[in-house]
Amino acid sequence: MAKKTNWYKDAVVYQIYPLSFMDANNDGIGDIRGIISKLDYIKDLGATAIWFSPLYKSPWKDYGYDIADYKSIHPAFGTMADFEELLAECHKRGLKVMMDAVFNHTSDQHEWFKAALADKNSPYRDWYIFREGKRDKNGELMPPNNWTSSFTGSAWERVEGTDEYYLHLFAPEQPDLNWENPAVRREMSDTLRFWLEKGVDGFRFDVFNMISKVYPLRDDRNPLHFQKGVQYYVDGPRMHEFLKELNDNALSLYDTFTVGESYTPDEQHAHRYIHEESGELDSIFHFEHLMADNMFGLKMVAKPFNLRQFKRGLLDPQLRYHGTGWNTLVLENHDQARSVSRFGINTKKYRYEAATFLAMITFLGWGTPFIFQGEEIGMTNTRFSSMDQMKDPVSHFIFDMMKGMRIPEKAILRLIRWAVRDNARTPMQWDGTSNAGFNRGEKPWQCVNPDYRDINVEKDLASDKSIYRFYQKLLALRKSEPVLLSGKTIEYYPDDRQVISYSRSMDGKRFLIVGNFSGTRADFIMPGDFELDEMKIRMTNQGRTDAEVEEIIQMKPYEAILFEEIRK
Ligand code: NOJ
Repeated sequence: MAKKTNWYKDAVVYQIYPLSFMDANNDGIGDIRGIISKLDYIKDLGATAIWFSPLYKSPWKDYGYDIADYKSIHPAFGTMADFEELLAECHKRGLKVMMDAVFNHTSDQHEWFKAALADKNSPYRDWYIFREGKRDKNGELMPPNNWTSSFTGSAWERVEGTDEYYLHLFAPEQPDLNWENPAVRREMSDTLRFWLEKGVDGFRFDVFNMISKVYPLRDDRNPLHFQKGVQYYVDGPRMHEFLKELNDNALSLYDTFTVGESYTPDEQHAHRYIHEESGELDSIFHFEHLMADNMFGLKMVAKPFNLRQFKRGLLDPQLRYHGTGWNTLVLENHDQARSVSRFGINTKKYRYEAATFLAMITFLGWGTPFIFQGEEIGMTNTRFSSMDQMKDPVSHFIFDMMKGMRIPEKAILRLIRWAVRDNARTPMQWDGTSNAGFNRGEKPWQCVNPDYRDINVEKDLASDKSIYRFYQKLLALRKSEPVLLSGKTIEYYPDDRQVISYSRSMDGKRFLIVGNFSGTRADFIMPGDFELDEMKIRMTNQGRTDAEVEEIIQMKPYEAILFEEIRK
């Protein structure tokens, strides 16, 4: 066992989506040399680690989340030598490196799957989940059960020319691995060790709690389940055992940080996954707060923003798991719309206020902040004007599904574009030159957001209202205050429909965070266990001074204040 330094407990992780970050060779696709050229930018922000969305060989049916070779670098991104240089350059700057471990499924172009498909008797057949189809009463061949894929449609794909199907909980080009097979598990531990030996410091585990399924694979008969099968493949019976095995054989031999991307595990399981004594994961992501403007967790089905749901999602894990495991704090990632363009925010009017407000109420909480590229300059959603502009297969699956429901194309576009994942994947906006400084050559693989002349790094840094500089200040302050890093969270006024407020406390020291999550003024009354004259403003996003703090604070739209309690 390696000594665990728990380096992640004061870390700030910056997420890079390599396809869209920086294109040094001007071929339209981001690359490793591009990333190396921007490491100082990331370091200066106050990040201490980088998580790379998949850099491996992949046919990019799901842009890297369909891996064709776990121990390789996609040639469009560079070579293994480039990656090693990137790793060394990160370490030189004190930046840790986290890789994306997509272990629930591979690409259908992985050699293992090709071998499994080519020969029924190949040992690789049992690396995946193949099953005979069923016959309905008319003798028609049907999938083995009624499970549906997270990307719409059946979770089973028929093997051409046979009566067999294979399971894919995502796209048909992403066949699920059979974790019951010890050879698969050995290979996954080996993959982790391969990267750890190179010096990688941690992993983000993609949809980690889907790897263990309930056997036999039966129909989901719950009529309330929109996505069928969930109770049979989320938090399955061998989850804890599988995670322990990865730890015993790989993770615990190095000083790592592991975070699992979860599809809402239940509380009991979540607690075990991250419990310090479980030896499973250090932390997981919680996304419930990012469902506060959509229904049933379906991103594209809009509902009016529900602040109480946002608060529950953001704060409950902090209240629940403090002292036993570790938490993460997330506003954006490559699967989410841009935060300043949702939650009912009028982006045109309040972009700066909302971006800085969101950063304060989120990253002053308990847990490791994860910041997604472009979030630190308040990048916005793109007004996609045609389906061609959307590259994400999921946008197209949803489009096809809605078309099948006879919804006119223009209406579909309007209905889905605010939430599609493409919003996160437009090229990073570095400056106001063509292609937003992402490159000086080929048209980027994904269109640039037309607002890049107004919103870009160069302009942001030159502005008095720089979001990047605000993030810098916020992250530095957070790092300098042990209470903000490790203190306990206590919520105030949970039912307030405009204001979010919570305290952080440790060893008799307290901070209070207050934010008006609305486009209208809101009143805030200092909670009874604080004395007004002991509250000093440590940071605010709209210039309020201590002289402007009264018994009832009239808060401006998207105003956020961090108070420090100075006891008399
Ligand atoms: C979660 C990833 O974040 C997402 O981008 C991907 O499509 C699915 N898992 C499948 O790997």
